[in-house]
Amino acid sequence: MKKQIAVLAGDGIGPEITDGAIKVLCAVAKKYHHTFTFEQLPIGGDAIDRFGEPLPKHTVERCLASDSVLLGAVGGPKWDGLGDGKRPESGLLAIRKAMGLYSNIRPAKLWKSLSDASPLKLPLAKKGIEIIVVRELTGGIYFGKRGSYYDDANGETAWDTEQYSVREIERITKIACELALKRSKKMISVDKANVLESSRLWRKTVHAYAEKHYPAVTVCDMLVDNCAMQIVKNPAQFDILLTSNMFGDILSDEAAQVTGSIGMLASSSLGDSSCGLYEPIHGSAPDIAGTDTANPIATVLSCAMMLRDSFGLTEESNAIEHAVERVLEEGYRTADLDGGIKKVGCREMAQLISERI
Ligand code: IPM
Ligand code: MG
Repeated sequence: MKKQIAVLAGDGIGPEITDGAIKVLCAVAKKYHHTFTFEQLPIGGDAIDRFGEPLPKHTVERCLASDSVLLGAVGGPKWDGLGDGKRPESGLLAIRKAMGLYSNIRPAKLWKSLSDASPLKLPLAKKGIEIIVVRELTGGIYFGKRGSYYDDANGETAWDTEQYSVREIERITKIACELALKRSKKMISVDKANVLESSRLWRKTVHAYAEKHYPAVTVCDMLVDNCAMQIVKNPAQFDILLTSNMFGDILSDEAAQVTGSIGMLASSSLGDSSCGLYEPIHGSAPDIAGTDTANPIATVLSCAMMLRDSFGLTEESNAIEHAVERVLEEGYRTADLDGGIKKVGCREMAQLISERI
């Protein structure tokens, strides 16, 4: 199989982790006789520095023309002072929107060999954690109208709006229901319906859609504040967790940490075509950029998702996951992971995984 992959390395540790992931993809290509070609493209702060904007048109065009996109991370203190639409993060939001990637899947799983890395008490962690966060990605407060103004009584004031349509809620509900059918047939939909009108529409729409089209799937609701608590109290109760853009952003970081480290959590972002964007859910970690201490596993596992979900290469995808599992079982750990016996850097971790493909 021949595939063209756009690589948006971005900022901070972005180049290190995507380099590691490419190394693993090359090992897969070699073993299974595929040809993967990679095209590096600018995004984020790097694109601002070189081209004056966080998402150059050329990057969008090339991503749309490729078979899939691998992204590292964007952002850093250097660009924090920039205004709305000019920051590195707006490049990421804009590429998600331009590619129509409304469905973001973030599987937070506690790997067996990492139960000692979870900050939860061992009996809790040992019950097993596998939370599949299904996050709506191109709507809600991230893309709602916003602004700021000055008034004499209150001074500077800013506002953002959370907005969802039935169409947006239905299409992400469909994704979550499809996943639920393949798993426990249960999903928890998370909202703030006791306060927000948009959440009340969310709740009503999720139920109506699931009951009509997926009667085999049981949908329960949970308020987001309670959900944040339940994730640390009893994470084993979750399987599919369906939620909005902002709640999904917040809860996926939390779910990631209870599984040991945010450095382990991969994600896929898809729309209606097979061309998706795959990225670790963590950020650019500017404090450790260039020190070869980042954990490349979230990015490597994002490639496993790419092979399965965009290219239909299930065996190859499993090979990556097994290689990660073996490396962890052998005791290799990057600095973010407690426990283990052999501390390794980003490059060595990627190398060890590719050797086990
Ligand atoms: C994520 C990130 C992004 C988001 C930022 C960098 C814009 O936190 O992918 O979770 O909020 O979606
Ligand atoms: Mg986030």
